[in-house]
Formats: sequence, C-alpha cells, structure tokens
Amino acid sequence: MPRGGIDDIAGRTVLIYSRIAGTGSYLPEKIVTNADLEKVVDTTDEWISSRTGIRERRRAADGETTGDLAFYAATHALEAAGVKASEIDLIVLGTTTPDIIFPSTACLLQHRLGANGCAAFDVNAACSGFMYALGVADQFIRSGQVKKALVVGSETLSRMLDWSDRSTCVLFGDGAGAVVLEASNEPGILTTKLHADGAYKHLLYNPVGVSAGFNEQEPNHGIRVMMTGNEVFKVAVKTLDRIVGETLEAAGMHESDVDWLIPHQANLRIIEATAKRLKLSMDRVIVTVDRHGNTSSGSVPLALDEAVRSGKVQRGQTLLLEAFGGGFTWSSALLKY
Ligand code: ACO
Repeated sequence: MPRGGIDDIAGRTVLIYSRIAGTGSYLPEKIVTNADLEKVVDTTDEWISSRTGIRERRRAADGETTGDLAFYAATHALEAAGVKASEIDLIVLGTTTPDIIFPSTACLLQHRLGANGCAAFDVNAACSGFMYALGVADQFIRSGQVKKALVVGSETLSRMLDWSDRSTCVLFGDGAGAVVLEASNEPGILTTKLHADGAYKHLLYNPVGVSAGFNEQEPNHGIRVMMTGNEVFKVAVKTLDRIVGETLEAAGMHESDVDWLIPHQANLRIIEATAKRLKLSMDRVIVTVDRHGNTSSGSVPLALDEAVRSGKVQRGQTLLLEAFGGGFTWSSALLKY
C-alpha cells in the first residue's frame, strides 16, 4: 500500500504512519429525551426510536459554543496522549457550526489551548467533517511535515435546527470528540478515503449563509436543516456499502480483518446495513446514536473515545471508521489502533 516516507541519515526510506496517541470527547450536560420532544413537536418516542434508534441527545447550554465543546474534548485527548498543547504542529477541526464566521474555530481552540503558532483550520464537510479532518491530518504526517496533530469534530447542531420541524429536530444532538495523531514507524492509519458529490445538495442542506444572504422574515434568519430524509437514507446505505469495499481493497484487507466498526451515528438502521455488509455482528459495532443522536462531525470521534475508554477497543485492533453527510460527502479510515 502506498505510504509516505522520509530518508533517514543512511539514505534509507523510513515509512511514516500517523497513529492515534490519545482520544477525548465532551458532551453538554443537558439531556433532551424523546419524551421532552413530544412536548415540542407532533412526534412520539415510539416513532423516533423505531425509525432512528435515538432515545436521547445532548443540547449545549445557552452561551456554550462549538469551540467550548472542542476545547474540553481536545483537553481530554491531549491528556490521554500525554502530549502538551505546545507540542502540537497542526490543528484540523471538522465543523459545520463554527462559533463565528472567522477566525476559524480551530484558531479559537488553538489560542485557548496555548498551541499558538501551529497551523490551524476548519474543515466543513457536514457529517463527514471529522473524517475529512482525519484524512487531511494523516496526509500532513505521512509527508513528514507534521509530527503531532490534533484532530477534532465538534458541533452545536441544536443552534441550526428548526424546532418546529419534526422531521429534522428529533435527529440531531450537540457534542465533540478529538484525537491526537503522532508520527510513527508502526501503523497507524492504513488508508483514508474522502469523497463528495455536490449534485446531491438539494437532499440535505442549510439554505442561507453570508454570501447567499439570510432570510429576515423567517425564525432564526432562515437557518435550518432541510432534508429529504428517506432519499438521504437510500443513498447513504448504498454509498457506505461501496466505500467499505473500496477501503478494504485499498489496504489489501478483508471484512474478517476488521475488529470494530465505528460508524457515523445518524440512524441505527443505516449502521446495521453497513455492519451486515461487513458480515460483522452488532456486538462488534460501536453504537452511541441511542444516547447522542446525530452529532454530525462529533459523532465518529465521540463513539471512538467512548469505545476506547470503556475498554472495548484495545491497542493493536483494526478499526473501520466511516461517515456520510450533507454535500453529499462520504469518507472512511481503516486503522490499527
Ligand atoms: N415523528 C412522527 N412522524 C414523523 C416524524 C417525527 N419526528 N418525522 C417525520 N414523520 C412522518 C413523516 O411526515 C411521514 O409521514 P407521512 O407518511 O404521513 O407523509 C412519515 O413519518 C414517514 O417519513 P419518512 O421520511 O419516509 O420516514 P423514514 O422512515 O425515512 O425515516 C428518517 C426518516 C429517520 C429521517 C430517515 O429517513 C433517515 O434517517 N434518513 C437519513 C438521515 C441521515 O443519514 N442524514 C445524513 C447525515 S445528516 C448531515 O449530514 C447534517
């Protein structure tokens, strides 16, 4: 498999991998249950849990931002890795709900952590944000430019929901996860795959923005998630089926080599379809959607951190991470933890 490398003192090429040195996550305190949502929109716990697997999700407190969630998740990841913020060479943060338009949330995080001077930027790939950030950071490490990178996925989706739209507001939650990546001669991330197809914009989008303009007549200036859920569902299942095969092939591995599937947590039925494709029983799949809902860029690193801290995921095991989101974007990473 193609890997980056640098020449050592004797002129030999030394392969470089990026390896996860530590994970962290953070969830806001406030829990919003399906029963709570029954009081807000015309829905039922039965509809939400049977169609999505979601029972509850977290909601950021007033004034609590994506950057705040990112800071706590990043702090936990740095602690777990035994790495000081000042040692970080690169911060890549996946989000579609930045604190402010600019500077990027990555820059705000960098200053708060005290990692000033390193490269820091956001990636917007909707629910694939963290996976895209991981793919980008992996390339920087493989090329030898960066030794330690902080990769974060953080969202406060609750701020962009239309709380009168039952077809979207029940699905999403707030949260953040992070990993510290380190250059290593041992694998490491084996392969990452990033894809997008903008032709699907109309099925999942937020209709307003700085350049297109806001709608002053609508609540929240027209900021809301527009989704044709059943169409997104069908494309997500098919696309994730494809990317799983593509990822295994790129790494020269088979379904049976995967110890854990750590999927984007949008819908339990989509997760089950991907597990079936991999011939993995559900006890080899990390599921947090029941307690977190869809936290977009936060979802995969939150699930990863929970799996690591619970002792399920062990060093040396092979993990398949994947995500699918607005764009459409879809992405994966196969790695040795
Ligand atoms: N409570 C009760 N009924 C509801 C609710 C609700 N919260 N929401 C919708 N319904 C109704 C609809 O109005 C519809 O009623 P009708 O038949 O009378 O018209 C009925 O339920 C069925 O609606 P569908 O949309 O066909 O339901 P479906 O089984 O497809 O489930 C869902 C909807 C959960 C959204 C599913 O399609 C899904 O998970 N889609 C994928 C979401 C996803 O993966 N998004 C990608 C990431 S998000 C990102 O990138 C930001």
